[in-house]
Amino acid sequence: MSRICFVCLGNICRSPTAEGVMRHMLQQAGKKNAITIDSAGTSAHHVGEPPDRRAVAAAARRGVDVSGTARQFNAEDFQRFDYILAMDRRNLEALHQLAETEADHARIRLFRDFDADGAPGQEVPDPYYGGPNGFEEVLDICQAACNGLLDHLQQRAG
Ligand code: 4NP
Repeated sequence: MSRICFVCLGNICRSPTAEGVMRHMLQQAGKKNAITIDSAGTSAHHVGEPPDRRAVAAAARRGVDVSGTARQFNAEDFQRFDYILAMDRRNLEALHQLAETEADHARIRLFRDFDADGAPGQEVPDPYYGGPNGFEEVLDICQAACNGLLDHLQQRAG
């Protein structure tokens, strides 16, 4: 049993997209119920809002459902998740600021580090102020990183 929380800034673009892509992949792999998935933002700016309609539309074109309600990451989430995956270094840093114990810190990783074909330390670029291409790029990145994450979880499960 693994519990994963994807984390970006607003919880309306990147982390709900990663969450939707991972759910979709697990469903296709027949492992829908084996893993708990959620997402959150380090900022409170968009709490209570649905995902950005551009993210929803781009994902829908790939058959991926992006939904949910934005919430802010909080200290209790360190007990609720084994993998706390930051979309970029700014959010990685914000998560480390909230962490209280060594175990908390150990749960935090950069999401893209699970992409076996990518260099370490890469970020999911913020698409909020850009054009529609940004949302396609986020989806491409999420698909690659979620593939690697799924491989990682399957190897760990044996
Ligand atoms: P997200 O995108 O962190 O991927 O949800 C953003 C959403 C909103 C803002 C920035 C990034 N904003 O500045 O309002």
